[in-house]
Amino acid sequence: MFEQEIAQKLKIDGVEQSEIAALLEVPKDASMGDLALPCFRLSKLLKKSPAQIANELAPLFDGCAFLESAQTAGGYLNFKFNREEVAKKLIETNAQGEKFASSNEGADKTICIDYSSINIAKPFHIGHLSTTVIGGALCRIFQKLGYKTVGINHLGDWGTQFGKLIVAFKKWGDRAEIEKEGVLALNKIYVKFHKEAERDPSLEDEARAYFKKIEDGDAEAMELFHWFKEITLKEVEKIYDKLKIKFDSYAGESFYNDKMQCVIDILEQKRLLTLDDGAKIVKLDEFGMPPCLIVKADGATLYATRDLAAAYYRKKEYDFYKCLYVVAYQQNLHFRQLFKVLELMEFSGAKDMEHIAFGMVSLEDGAMSTRGGRIVRLSDVLDKAVEKALKIIKEKNPQAQNATQIAQSVGVGAVIFSALFNNRIKDIVFSFDKVLNFDGETAPYLQYTHARCRSLLKKGGEPDLDKVDFSAISDDEGYQTVKAVLAFPDAVKFAAQTREPCVVSRAIIDVAEKFNRFYISHRIADAAENERAARLLLAKAVAQTIKIGLGLLGIDAPEAM
Ligand code: ARG
Repeated sequence: MFEQEIAQKLKIDGVEQSEIAALLEVPKDASMGDLALPCFRLSKLLKKSPAQIANELAPLFDGCAFLESAQTAGGYLNFKFNREEVAKKLIETNAQGEKFASSNEGADKTICIDYSSINIAKPFHIGHLSTTVIGGALCRIFQKLGYKTVGINHLGDWGTQFGKLIVAFKKWGDRAEIEKEGVLALNKIYVKFHKEAERDPSLEDEARAYFKKIEDGDAEAMELFHWFKEITLKEVEKIYDKLKIKFDSYAGESFYNDKMQCVIDILEQKRLLTLDDGAKIVKLDEFGMPPCLIVKADGATLYATRDLAAAYYRKKEYDFYKCLYVVAYQQNLHFRQLFKVLELMEFSGAKDMEHIAFGMVSLEDGAMSTRGGRIVRLSDVLDKAVEKALKIIKEKNPQAQNATQIAQSVGVGAVIFSALFNNRIKDIVFSFDKVLNFDGETAPYLQYTHARCRSLLKKGGEPDLDKVDFSAISDDEGYQTVKAVLAFPDAVKFAAQTREPCVVSRAIIDVAEKFNRFYISHRIADAAENERAARLLLAKAVAQTIKIGLGLLGIDAPEAM
């Protein structure tokens, strides 16, 4: 705030205004002021001591309307803003409504975001939470800044496991049961296949033969293949609805069946392929990586081959500015290899590919494991969170209207937020008590603060702009809240830049904490006439900021709780 205005006044011979602006920083100790100019680097240039420079610059700000003071201290020039001038900005903030913090920096730019990207016939477990909610949040954050986004669910819908699944289904499957039980039933026969195949290896041959049939487009095999897909998608779509996730494309691995040859041709042309025991690989030892396998000896293509084809397809179809892959850090090597091969192929989008890695989610009682069958289904986690939320809400407010609906928003919101509060790369240990703590750094805390503000506005009425006296929100608590609200647009930008939704999460937690501190020490809805309007204006801005922030994360902000 006010960086531009301050830089404009700082006229120093031989130094560009933009260079000076870049030097401005926020003091660590808030009592020093809102912004500071350290004069140490200028010292060399101007051949004067930092203190002397600061002293010479200070008078430039005499009588400056937006500043309370410009004081020198130990080689710094410290600026304190005029708090009422800063608070005035709330009027504009409120007038912007839900457009607050929007921008058009991304106009004409398209960002592809590959996320969630589930595997067909595998249960949707808690391990899929992060990719799904981080990807969804990034889509909305980029949209807020004017980018066009293409959310892609790169389905894992290809591979020999589908041959196994057909064999398993034909031997032990029951159509009605699978229709009813869904993916869990599919997974059950898949697990059984592996057990049985240990005893009877001929099952593997049968599975291979069936997979070949899928590849050849055999009618019966295709029918089953599509049915498995349908069963899986029907189930996950229910979860996507709860999480407010919508994809623009479900083009998964099988979509690229007929799109890999041209990639292989480019690799041949550029002499990047090496024959290795009949397989075609791209050697990467020069870059400190194992080779990238492109075609197996039996002619089968791989995960990486499909990703190469997908990259070319996305560039052609969407002409992306960036192409992001929200995938767990376990696949770091895969993406490093993929991006390197694309670079060697001189693919035009190679520089714009990014792996958005994230850590693992486990439950308090130990890591979840798929192999051992100890799968924690995300739908169960969501249901349980909603159930617990309902109990808490009924305890806190026995008269609550639409308690079930509120519990839905609170329970689901709590789970989403738990995956969006820390830097992506951090592993998370999920605990129901922690995420549902109304006094913690949680979604329920934010929702509760939002509802508190809404209720203040219901009681106190809309702020009367003619009566606003900004001195009523200019003490420390008020001013800190105002500043937290006004910092939100930059937080959204920074979240986009760093691809870290947690920047938004933390920004609104900060707003809520600052506001609650103000709330305990000030009257608002029933404040004296001369103070009420300004305080209601602040409550309104806080509510709006929290609501927008939660919205970006895919979380509801109920009016009342
Ligand atoms: N289906 C893969 C998995 O579950 C993730 C796919 C990520 N996207 C991609 N284009 N490789 O591991």
